[in-house]
Amino acid sequence: MERTFLMVKPDGVQRNLIGEIVARFEKKGFQLVGGKLMLITRELAEQHYGEHKERPFFGELVDFITSGPVFAMVWEGENVIATARLMMGATNPKESAPGTIRGDYAVTVGKNIIHGSDSPESAVREIGLFFKEEELVSYTKLI
Ligand code: CMP
Repeated sequence: MERTFLMVKPDGVQRNLIGEIVARFEKKGFQLVGGKLMLITRELAEQHYGEHKERPFFGELVDFITSGPVFAMVWEGENVIATARLMMGATNPKESAPGTIRGDYAVTVGKNIIHGSDSPESAVREIGLFFKEEELVSYTKLI
């Protein structure tokens, strides 16, 4: 079954949106197979956002993602990578449609509430950065 990495960013945690965000993915029909509230080190942030290293906003991005607790999650389900991206809405909240997470809760591109893997390769890489395999559960066979 396909898996993706999703993370409620420090702005979402601070605004008490963890429950709302988790509920959206649960109601959609995906399953939470891993989750933890954590502080990201600068080292992990730089690894996670490595592809943006040359961008002018890289420093700001690392400062922000390490500024407070995040809620890191692994979700499982059919087409979960692409569907979660649709549910999150466009990266820039100026372009994200109402009804999407960013469309409903975010205003600026820096503080855009949630991160989600953009491809199967990113999902594997990001899940591996944040979780050990033994921290993930498998219960899809039970229901
Ligand atoms: P995310 O999906 O976590 O992946 C990279 C992040 O970089 C993106 O969400 C945005 O929050 C952030 N980002 C993109 N463009 C800018 C920008 N111009 N200024 C600040 N942050 C940005």
